Amino acid sequence: MSTNSLSANDIKSFRAILDGEEYEVPYHRGEVLLDCMLRDGLDPAFQCMDGHCGTCMVIRLGGEVEMRKNNVLSQRDLGAGYVLLCQSIPLNDEVLVDCDG
Ligand code: FES
Repeated sequence: MSTNSLSANDIKSFRAILDGEEYEVPYHRGEVLLDCMLRDGLDPAFQCMDGHCGTCMVIRLGGEVEMRKNNVLSQRDLGAGYVLLCQSIPLNDEVLVDCDG
């Protein structure tokens, strides 16, 4: 079975690079990546938690995510792989985001 056919309910974790370390972060159904990272004791940069400020912007290096809202990233940003941690839901279990980029 391709991992691309997983539903959001099947996603157990995602990976995040923060301060030079790569972490496997448990994914909790329905939550955005930022909430899962905070719950796991990580401290990625964020402010508004509402898709406005861009502080939580990270580069997606792998997998697919869907953003609930995006009021700050341009088409160019999106094309370059940037996503907002506070708005992103993983769509498969291969998500890897780089918070240091
Ligand atoms: S924390 Fe402001 S856009 Fe995510």
